[in-house]
Amino acid sequence: MSYKIMHIVGNRPQFIKLAPVSRAIQKRGYEEIIIHTGQHFDENMSNIFFEELGIQYPKANLNAGSGTHAQVTAKVISRLEEIVINENPNAVIIYGDTNSTLAAAIVVSKLNIPLFHVESGSRTFSKTNPEEKNRIVADHLSNYLFTPDKISADNLKKEGIDPTQIIFSGDVMYDQFLYCAAQSYNISTEKYPVNYILMTWHRQENTCSKNRMEKMLSFLEKINYNIVLPLHPRTRKLLIEHDLWKRVEMNDNLIIVDPVGYKEMTILLSRCKLLISDSGGASKEASFVGKKCFFPLRLGVWPELVELGYINMVDIDDDKSIQRSIKEMEEIIHFNKKMIKSSCFGNGNAAEIIVDTIERALRTQNV
Ligand code: UD1
Ligand code: UDP
Repeated sequence: MSYKIMHIVGNRPQFIKLAPVSRAIQKRGYEEIIIHTGQHFDENMSNIFFEELGIQYPKANLNAGSGTHAQVTAKVISRLEEIVINENPNAVIIYGDTNSTLAAAIVVSKLNIPLFHVESGSRTFSKTNPEEKNRIVADHLSNYLFTPDKISADNLKKEGIDPTQIIFSGDVMYDQFLYCAAQSYNISTEKYPVNYILMTWHRQENTCSKNRMEKMLSFLEKINYNIVLPLHPRTRKLLIEHDLWKRVEMNDNLIIVDPVGYKEMTILLSRCKLLISDSGGASKEASFVGKKCFFPLRLGVWPELVELGYINMVDIDDDKSIQRSIKEMEEIIHFNKKMIKSSCFGNGNAAEIIVDTIERALRTQNV
């Protein structure tokens, strides 16, 4: 039996999550179609990942990038429907929790096409967090829900989702990380200092106002160490709009670069002393290499990593929390403190489990 499987992706982390699932599908020889919503569109936010991770180029790009939540979501919904109807796939896979995920879930579910959600179930329990809303809707519209960790599976059960629809597959980002770690790359890191903290910064909650961005800059100004910051275009744009770029330039410790490809990112991560990041993906990846992540936002991310000490919450509204965090960073750097690599995210075979499940569901028509 041959199946036609569609992936709908649109954001940087989704291209990375797609890579191992695509490899598992290719191995079985099924027809595969990738639709790009266009939510992310810069060369180094999109194309670079297709090239370096060897992912097939999208069959269509919906060019839905930039705009308010409603605008992006509406553009994807209106442009996607006809493509899905024409392609008529046997199954559609969606990833994570972005506006592209939400829009795709609505379109595919309304067409009654079997929908499979990768990286489902994680909850921040914050009603204002935009990703939370997307994930809840996508989860409740999907036929099968693949969770990266056990806590996410429990969250779904508590929300009343039929347990037979919930599969703890492990994390496809962990699959991808192991896959790349087993290869050697020819990427020069000469432009970076030998010793540094790595940082990423893009969440809506941390870029939503000038005041919030100033708080982040004040926090960074208190850290007396090199900070390598591949800067998300959203953050760069808002720093400039709020007239804060001069302040960024005046911080001699900050080494700002454009967003880097996944391979360069994993090298930077494995060589850094520690990570400061509000990214769901990067905060988790730090644990794959036994590095601590200082998470500068009060948000319930990856509770197991918080519990085990991989993620340290920093409240940048609270001087005491900042002081505590900086003291801990200094100790990590000074004593070269390391963590063991985390094992909360499965065995590195999440993509195989996901494709096995899709295959079985389609074969037995249990969708
Ligand atoms: C989106 C997701 C977020 C995810 C992040 C991954 C939603 C609600 N948010 O946030 O969950 O963590 O992607 O990175 O879906 N921009 C560019 N070039 C690009 C991409 C973005 O210039 O290639 C700029 C545009 O001005 C755009 C802004 O960044 O308006 C925000 O982009 P958007 O995709 O809306 O949100 P992200 O912050 O990227
Ligand atoms: N990443 C990357 N280059 C960068 C910054 C991040 O390849 O310059 C990778 C990172 O290693 C992780 C993913 O992008 O795999 C996380 O994406 P992002 O932080 O944009 O979104 P989130 O995970 O918060 O949704």
